[in-house]
Amino acid sequence: MPDPNAAALEFLLTRRSRPAKTLQPPVPDHDALVPLLTAAGRTPDHGKLEPWRFIVIEAGAMARLANVAESCARSLGKPDEDIAKARSQFDQGHLAVAVIEVQKPSEKIPPAEQTYSAGAVCLALLNAALAAGWGANWLSGFISHDAAFREKALGLAPHERIAGFIHIGTETSAPPERPRPDISAITSWVSE
Ligand SMILES: Cc1cc2nc3c(=O)[nH]c(=O)nc-3n(C[C@H](O)[C@H](O)[C@H](O)COP(=O)(O)O)c2cc1C
Repeated sequence: MPDPNAAALEFLLTRRSRPAKTLQPPVPDHDALVPLLTAAGRTPDHGKLEPWRFIVIEAGAMARLANVAESCARSLGKPDEDIAKARSQFDQGHLAVAVIEVQKPSEKIPPAEQTYSAGAVCLALLNAALAAGWGANWLSGFISHDAAFREKALGLAPHERIAGFIHIGTETSAPPERPRPDISAITSWVSE
């Protein structure tokens, strides 16, 4: 018979993100963040390619990223409302970890599997932060998919992409529960 980890299962059955705009200081310091990154690095990775890396964005870097986001959104011809949105996660941010997908050349592991692994790292980091008692939220935003932003804001190489920004901080209000999927509607059971 299995030996259940009841606390871990209960966490997974009840976990939920906290909206980034509601997160405030204090945020995890270096010593508090390293175990969360370590947990995130313990993610399934076909072929041990490590097709990801982290960039920790501290409070002092947020204004610069907001300005780069604004300038790149303007270059894309976005309306004022979208420009303000591109800025907002950095204007309001206190600590975020950019999870960077780093595609590695491989004859065996297709690019899609490396992308899935980078997404799994995002969830692992989000869950580690939530399990540690922090509020956390996985954001992208259209600007994260802009090559000029990736290069100017974070110095990414052409084969690197932003899998997500994981904002981490102190929760100030409990969000309402969001609708969750009807598992019976999305699950097929194949028995022969
Ligand atoms: C790849 C990815 C990108 C996301 N980007 C955003 C975003 O830019 N803005 C936003 O409001 N929510 C975004 N979300 C959704 C939030 O993370 C949302 O809070 C989350 O899905 C709530 O899920 P949870 O409560 O199960 O953790 C994104 C989710 C994923 C998976």
